Amino acid sequence: MSNESLANLLKEERRFAPPAELAANANVTAEAYERAKADRLGFWAEQARRLSWETEPTETLDWSNPPFAKWFKDGRLNVAYNCVDRHVEAGLGERVAIHFEGEPGDTRAITYADLQRDVCKAANALTELGVRAGDRVAIYLPMIPEAAVAMLACARIGAPHSLVFGGFSSDALATRIQDADARVVITADGGYRRGKPSALKPAVDEALSRPGTENVRNVVVVRRTGEETAWTEDRDVWWHDLVERQSESHTPQAFEAEHPLFILYTSGTTGKPKGILHTSGGYLTQTAYTHHAVFDLKPETDVYWCTADVGWVTGHSYIVYGPLANGATQVMYEGTPDTPHKGRWWEIVQKYKVTILYTAPTAIRTCMKWGDDIPAKFDLSSLRVLGSVGEPINPEAWIWYRHNIGGDRTPVVDTWWQTETGAIMVSPLPGVTSTKPGSAQVPLPGIAATVVDDEANEVPDGAGGYLVLTEPWPSMLRTIWGDDQRYLDTYWSRFKDRYFAGDGAKKDDDGDIWLLGRVDDVMLVSGHNISTTEVESALVSHPKVAEAAVVGATDPQTTQAICAFVILRGTAAEDEGLVDELRNHVAKHLGPIAKPKRILPVDELPKTRSGKIMRRLLRDIAENRTLGDVTTLTDSTVMDLIQAKLPGASAGED
Ligand code: WT7
Repeated sequence: MSNESLANLLKEERRFAPPAELAANANVTAEAYERAKADRLGFWAEQARRLSWETEPTETLDWSNPPFAKWFKDGRLNVAYNCVDRHVEAGLGERVAIHFEGEPGDTRAITYADLQRDVCKAANALTELGVRAGDRVAIYLPMIPEAAVAMLACARIGAPHSLVFGGFSSDALATRIQDADARVVITADGGYRRGKPSALKPAVDEALSRPGTENVRNVVVVRRTGEETAWTEDRDVWWHDLVERQSESHTPQAFEAEHPLFILYTSGTTGKPKGILHTSGGYLTQTAYTHHAVFDLKPETDVYWCTADVGWVTGHSYIVYGPLANGATQVMYEGTPDTPHKGRWWEIVQKYKVTILYTAPTAIRTCMKWGDDIPAKFDLSSLRVLGSVGEPINPEAWIWYRHNIGGDRTPVVDTWWQTETGAIMVSPLPGVTSTKPGSAQVPLPGIAATVVDDEANEVPDGAGGYLVLTEPWPSMLRTIWGDDQRYLDTYWSRFKDRYFAGDGAKKDDDGDIWLLGRVDDVMLVSGHNISTTEVESALVSHPKVAEAAVVGATDPQTTQAICAFVILRGTAAEDEGLVDELRNHVAKHLGPIAKPKRILPVDELPKTRSGKIMRRLLRDIAENRTLGDVTTLTDSTVMDLIQAKLPGASAGED
């Protein structure tokens, strides 16, 4: 698409109606909103019946001690049975659950029957190591099927798992092992990243040398790369030695709906990581329902692919629990999108005829930067629904995604949720909603979300404020592990009886919700609140800009001054007039007040491994401070590169 037609598209503020065929056969229709509105708890009780319960719940929600919710509390179920065994019992054992694609090109097709055998053996193995219901198991693995098997084995025996993303350092691993008081660690010798084996086990050895990790009795090690690995006798055991010799049968025991399923740590910007606790029945109900509704999953025919890592909540809810509870066939890919070439993802879509793709805006913008010609080389015609998650998706990226990946056929669903919410909360429905580039739009059926001002009053259409959730939901976090007070303080104290998500948001004239980023990322410029997301979005709508990150730097005149860091598109030159051109472009889009004071072209932006821009570090640069903690950056040399460019940084100042 030419830049001109792209600009026209955006000017029209177009909506995209659902494709007629999709709408006619959609899993969920507009009627669901009505039904859920008339009887919210009845609606969720109905969704809980998607699961197989050993004891059906009679009570949907116990909210007698808010905000400590109990969903389906007298119901009993086994989560792994729901994700695996029941599909085999239904005669679907030969259906592929996971098409695994390793980065080096090795593949495995794992059927539901295979998965059942693997999970049973792993459950027996953990039991042999003395793991009992309630014991915590830390999992530190690359994106290989054993990660899903290990999670499901823990779920099967009622041992809450705590995944630690394989890109995290031994420090991060150690604090998470300590906080959860883990008894066993499941890891691998390493995984493949960017064409090379990348070791994992040394970080485990290092973490376990720290005080406070003594309760870890065993380290189970998957052999993935075959690289030499240090070994601690009596503690370390190979996965293949331990698991392969186990019995293939294991009787799943039912647990209470509120039995802890997992702890997942969110880093937050400061302080010690928060162990977000999720439980069983409500979590599985909402992940299964939302996966069915938002992606319109047809398990008999769809091939679903979520590109997240299992170490993030997206991987928990939309690789493991939601899709497997629904009996989906999915792709799991180990590596990076540009190994061995920048078309690897699209090659995978073509190879497995992927029909539903779920990824993040940062990945989409990276692909935009690499160029339209790359996806154009592959047959992507199997795709029918595209999803986005992780941060606000700017309209340009949204349109690019729909056009270049979805061939202008596919709905794009922008899904807002958090580690804490456990499952999708605000999103279009592909067969119902006329989608709007850049907006997550509406709360799902059964979800109550709105935008409020400082005094907790709901804002009218056309106004901005804070996103809050006004009613409990089945997959909500139950607490912060070991710290109920912090749970209250962090989420329930800002607004009375409302869950505060920490995100700024606005409602447009149609009442649709637009996310504006974390409230810490809202700038105050001469008495105006301006969101970093909106300025970034305006910058990226300029044809020469591929990516932008905006921060507010303390300023004596205006309280904060807008500073922008931009990555230019492949062909754009960093010439004299560029900075002024970009500043005027933002002024035209958002008004002169939003004109960045400084704009600095850079080659890379500092990002966490989950793709979030670390604005804190950019603020340090903009305010000429020494850099804060850079340990969670994907690549800490990025900051050196940016700093090296600083002498010219004042260009565009006036
Ligand atoms: C934060 C939660 C949810 C799984 C991945 C991130 C931001 C997430 C969107 C979206 C705008 C979004 C929010 C949220 N976020 N999805 N569709 N539009 N912002 O999980 O690491 O817990 O981060 O990510 O700021 O609060 P997480």
